Amino acid sequence: MMICFKFYLFLLLLVTLWVSILAERDFYQILGVNRDATSKQIKKAYRTLAMKYHPDKNKDDPDAQTKFHDINEAYEVLSDEEKRDIYNKRGEEGLKNHGQHGGGGVFDNFFGGFGFHFGQADSGHHEIPRGGSITMDLEVSLENLYNGQTLRVARYKPVPKAAKGTRKCNCRMETKTIPMGPGRFQMVQQQVCDDCPNVKFVNEEKILEVEVEPGMSHESQYPFISEGEPHIDGEPGDLIFVIKQERHHMFERRGDDLYMNITISLRDALTGFNMEITHLDGHKVEISRDKVTWPGAIIKKKGEGMPNYDNNVKKGDLYITFDVEFPRGVISDQDKEDIIRVLNQEPNQKPYNGL
Ligand SMILES: *[C@@H]1O[C@H](CO)[C@@H](O)[C@H](O)[C@H]1NC(C)=O
Repeated sequence: MMICFKFYLFLLLLVTLWVSILAERDFYQILGVNRDATSKQIKKAYRTLAMKYHPDKNKDDPDAQTKFHDINEAYEVLSDEEKRDIYNKRGEEGLKNHGQHGGGGVFDNFFGGFGFHFGQADSGHHEIPRGGSITMDLEVSLENLYNGQTLRVARYKPVPKAAKGTRKCNCRMETKTIPMGPGRFQMVQQQVCDDCPNVKFVNEEKILEVEVEPGMSHESQYPFISEGEPHIDGEPGDLIFVIKQERHHMFERRGDDLYMNITISLRDALTGFNMEITHLDGHKVEISRDKVTWPGAIIKKKGEGMPNYDNNVKKGDLYITFDVEFPRGVISDQDKEDIIRVLNQEPNQKPYNGL
């Protein structure tokens, strides 16, 4: 009998253990990175996922909201060396014991003390109001998009501070019954509010670091979760930078490929040439040709395009279109004869549809 009871206990323990292992989330898997991912890779994965599952974009999808919540928590832990270390050694449970994880406390640190609550994910149906999200264009040069560059943007952010007095908060409609005399009542709808400590918003300067990474594309979005408009009774919205690629004087970009035009003289077009162009990081690209180059001829330089955002080792190609500059003026009869002899070309006149 005793043995049987012990066995039962043991089973129970096993099941509990199993359940708690199941409950542990794999933060690496959530962000889709390897366990040895660099902090850059983690940030990059986080930004992509945060945009994909952002609540503003997935208003009716509760799964997306849970995912967004998980993504933010995973990032919160893996982007902090100390927390990541604890998590690697002892898992989510270890973080809880560390006293920094769980109960929303993490997000107080992360998001600047105003708290970060996921209404949907944590507490079922009641919706927590969100401040407005701000979208801002950020002009980035093609050089920076090629090489990568950390840009610092100063933001004056309204931060809530304690103020004197109280304010009405958590207002809701309630039905009250008012006695009107013996046996008579009147039911009325009434707005009821709580008294909360007063807050005022004070603008504080904050420097945001935007890590422009090699190969980022025009119009890509770079989120700062909870850096948007604050909400007095809820969580702040987000600040989202939209990368706008500046016009470049030499290159045009299409995906990872670069395009440029070069005008050469008729002499070079006929006799060949050697030239160097300076690329976006300063390295030289050599272009040489022995053969005749006609107007509109295109040379492809493999691997001289933009780095690929997902894999910087991979690069697009560079396409150079040539334009030929003809000399002006009159050529002497003697020279004309020489040219005709050298070119050895049949007279050729083929009219065609010019549209
Ligand atoms: C090259 O020339 C073509 C035709 O004039 C023009 O449409 C294109 O924008 C030019 N490309 C660059 C990179 O300047």
